[in-house]
Amino acid sequence: TYVVTEACIKCKYTDCVEVCPVDCFYEGANMLVIHPDECIDCGVCEPECPPEAILPDTESEAEKWLELNREYSERWPNITRKIDAMPEADAMQAEKGKFDRFFS
Ligand code: SF4
Ligand code: F3S
Repeated sequence: TYVVTEACIKCKYTDCVEVCPVDCFYEGANMLVIHPDECIDCGVCEPECPPEAILPDTESEAEKWLELNREYSERWPNITRKIDAMPEADAMQAEKGKFDRFFS
């Protein structure tokens, strides 16, 4: 599966949503996640994300995000269409350590 990682937080460009053939993205207030059981590993979303937030779970950096993607894809609503990025997206794109902004 592919997973959404920290770089999505406070950005939500949603270019990924537009290309996913199985609509397996779920939307929280500040971040999207992928449902690991629904993702078919096609990989087309990965190059579409401006801050490169999407990684295959085989990458060591992505591993710790897998459980978070699983947990929140069960709780958050499905998103199937591109929406406007968050107002602070361009400024937040290069920020590191955004996990404390996960909920607010
Ligand atoms: Fe969707 Fe393919 Fe990305 Fe998985 S890898 S989330 S199926 S676009
Ligand atoms: Fe997030 Fe990148 Fe998609 S910023 S919403 S994973 S295009």
